[in-house]
Amino acid sequence: MNPKKLHCATVVFIIYFFSLNVHSQLEIGFYSILCSEVEFIVKDEVRKAFAMNPRIAAGLVRMHFHDCFIRGCDASVLIDSTPQNTAEKDSPANSPSLIGYEVIDNAKARLEAVCEGIVSCADIVAFAARDSFEMTGGLGYDVPAGRRDGRISLASETIKLPSPAFNVDQLTKIFAAKGLTQEEMVTLTGAHTIGHSHCSSFSNRLYNFSGTSRQDPSLDRSYAIRLKRQCPQGSTNQSLVVPMNPSSPGRADVGFYVDVLVNRGLFTSDQVLLKNPATKKQVRENARKPSLWMRKFSAAMVKMGQIGVITGDDGEIRRNCRVVNG
Ligand code: HEM
Ligand SMILES: *[C@@H]1O[C@H](CO)[C@@H](O)[C@H](O)[C@H]1NC(C)=O
Ligand SMILES: *[C@@H]1O[C@H](CO)[C@@H](O)[C@H](O)[C@H]1NC(C)=O
Repeated sequence: MNPKKLHCATVVFIIYFFSLNVHSQLEIGFYSILCSEVEFIVKDEVRKAFAMNPRIAAGLVRMHFHDCFIRGCDASVLIDSTPQNTAEKDSPANSPSLIGYEVIDNAKARLEAVCEGIVSCADIVAFAARDSFEMTGGLGYDVPAGRRDGRISLASETIKLPSPAFNVDQLTKIFAAKGLTQEEMVTLTGAHTIGHSHCSSFSNRLYNFSGTSRQDPSLDRSYAIRLKRQCPQGSTNQSLVVPMNPSSPGRADVGFYVDVLVNRGLFTSDQVLLKNPATKKQVRENARKPSLWMRKFSAAMVKMGQIGVITGDDGEIRRNCRVVNG
């Protein structure tokens, strides 16, 4: 090998080595010595909240996604606004639709009592998302931990979250920017098999499609009739929500993909997955193979949970998940 080639190979190796490192910053069992009860306590709080209101599970899965896509999984989504700063949680992307903050607060309070200053809010969110998915019938998975909490949360940055009006190219790009593949995007969107949506997230499809008074032709007619009944035109009632997978809104099954196949995806961003040959193939495959989707979903959640994490001595372990340490 000539020196130039060798040099090139070394550079490639170093880049490869560092990229491996990036993905191995977090560890399964990170708290086993310093706070061995952590996963038990988080699960117990999720279980209690779930018993009172099963809808909390979908909220906590979505919370992890919204946390990770903005500034990495650093619990920036949990920080409260101050008179000087409007935080992520008060952006239109999160307010009033994102729920579950109290579950994280309750877990954090118990954890501070037994192992003060040890467990990050970002890890609590990651554990709670896993527990929630499992409680709705999804496959459990090990959550690598060791995330530290960030100190910045800006409402303006939530524009980096995907819009429900996106097409496949836009969705693919925004996930690629976070290191996730198109297939992982399709896999993760399967989370829409649990939970509810406010009418405002899709009512353009019913009443004002592409700025006309038509309805979205890609939406099943009889489903559209039902949705119109549930979401009257011009309603501004913020407590109106509809299930995203009406046949089993509380179950982590492949109902989402089955819906999309019969033109009953709730959002444009769901239904467009049929418009691209590659994503359509995955929708079909996931609909037919629940256990394949489950495995892919767990793996993709673990990968999503590593986006832009802060580790080591960087960031902080927030004492109160809503407030950066003084
Ligand atoms: C592909 C791009 C995505 C878009 C455009 C999108 C958009 C949305 C929108 C608009 C809602 C309804 C909010 C409301 O009006 O109440 C929603 C709900 C939800 N999303 Fe997504 N989402 C995406 C991907 C994901 C991912 C990757 C996950 C998690 C892995 C996720 C999990 C959820 C869950 C669980 C709900 C239900 C929340 C609840 O019931 O409280 N979404 N999403
Ligand atoms: C209808 O959609 C257009 C753009 O698509 C938007 O400018 C307009 O404000 C919408 N009208 C209503 C009533 O939502
Ligand atoms: C808003 O919707 C909720 C849920 O359907 C309903 O209970 C409530 O009465 C509505 N409020 C108004 C002002 O229409």
